[in-house]
Amino acid sequence: MAEERTQQGKPADGTESHDPDFPEAFLSFMRQGWRDTELPVGPRPEVPNHAKRRAALAEAFPGETLVIPTGTEKVRANDTDHRFRPGSDFAYLTGDLEPDSVLVLRPGGEATLFMRPRSSRATDEFFRSRHGELWVGRRPTLKEKSTELGLPTADLTELDAALADLAPGRTRVLRGFDARVDAAVRPYDGARDEGQPGRDRELAIAISELKLVKDEWEIAQLQEACDATVRGFEDVARALPADRAVSERLLEGIFALRARHDGNDVGYGSIVGAGEHATILHWVHNHGATRPGELLLMDMGVENRNLYTADVTRVLPVDGRFTPLQRQVYDAVYAAQQAGIDVIKPGVAFRDVHLTAMRVLAEALKDLGLLPVSVDEAMDPASTVYRRWTLHGTSHMLGIDVHDCANARKETYRDGPLGEGYVLTVEPGLYFQPEDELVPEELRGIGVRIEDDILVTADGSVNLSAGLPRRSDEVETWLAEQREAGPRLPG
Ligand code: GLY
Ligand code: MN
Ligand code: MN
Repeated sequence: MAEERTQQGKPADGTESHDPDFPEAFLSFMRQGWRDTELPVGPRPEVPNHAKRRAALAEAFPGETLVIPTGTEKVRANDTDHRFRPGSDFAYLTGDLEPDSVLVLRPGGEATLFMRPRSSRATDEFFRSRHGELWVGRRPTLKEKSTELGLPTADLTELDAALADLAPGRTRVLRGFDARVDAAVRPYDGARDEGQPGRDRELAIAISELKLVKDEWEIAQLQEACDATVRGFEDVARALPADRAVSERLLEGIFALRARHDGNDVGYGSIVGAGEHATILHWVHNHGATRPGELLLMDMGVENRNLYTADVTRVLPVDGRFTPLQRQVYDAVYAAQQAGIDVIKPGVAFRDVHLTAMRVLAEALKDLGLLPVSVDEAMDPASTVYRRWTLHGTSHMLGIDVHDCANARKETYRDGPLGEGYVLTVEPGLYFQPEDELVPEELRGIGVRIEDDILVTADGSVNLSAGLPRRSDEVETWLAEQREAGPRLPG
């Protein structure tokens, strides 16, 4: 089923044909005898949520036009593409999941979604083009999409003319998603102050900062993603033998099946680290194998159908019981995580969650005889030697991206306070590298991280991933229960 191309990579007859060999008899036969049906679409319940976000963004840039593309399909090899994943900011503002679409938000908040609609049967596109519905499925019409999203729509073919009309000094573009849009609207930094972000960068910042507070619909999406993630971890635990090796890839694949079945996909490359692989923070090769007696660290999250993702890490003792030393390390990480969660409420500095968890870990490292200085000295910003074994920050925002709100300014995010409706991870860890000569032999190759997804409420927090136990004894009981229940397929 390959798209046949000439040597230049262009279709032979000037169309986007998937088959250059089209006798006229075939063409005229294909052009007749098709029934037209409408998709039974109604407005999605979240239409007002998206409208509110667009209104808030428009208000931040009065009198300006904002252009926000979703991006295009990326070539995997030759004529096969990666599975399309919409641009997060575009999806946040529209709820649309199709490739190539572009949101144009005009002064006052009037929005138009430029999109590639269902191809008319008046042309051959429906069976000849790579976008044709006989190749990739039926796309919505302009009217169907407009009804579904509560948003005026226009054909993508009209986008160039619409962009050409925009005044450069009064237009901002979310760049880096769609080369056609980037080229059509040249960057304009006329009155830019030295050291200030450019106009387009200000747009990216504003969207990221809007995303800090999740509305009720988004919280429900995140809860759904966490619930599916719980089921995925259960599936994996049920397939994890206590007494023999299985490949990390098998476990990754079992979780991926749950993610595709219950959601859209995994929200990021699953980290399945058996034994010493747990000490590598972003271990995604997953080409190792479990071993009874060792720990297994899994950092995995389901991205739901509206692209909201969970981000959860659990560490399991493969044979069902932590050794005393494994338990000591695990319980220290648990205590650090719980201390971090306990300080979360509106107004608390984002950084304090991290510092609270790190102090607990520094104390544990002192107890293990590893810290070369006092805990207070280690916590001094001029030292931080404890970080040899903690390696990373404790929290990041979570939402439609696993590392959500990434363009927010430091002063509103990393140096700012937590607010009601924020969702952040709390994920401290201790990592003893196999080649670390400053730790005793028996600790080398142990890595523990515990990660949960925490919603900031009016007076504290709620753990959205509480469906998976965290305490070492509860993890053991849960693992035994899953094994007792036996393997299962989603559905
Ligand atoms: N899974 C990536 C992270 O925890 O940030
Ligand atoms: Mn995380
Ligand atoms: Mn994670």
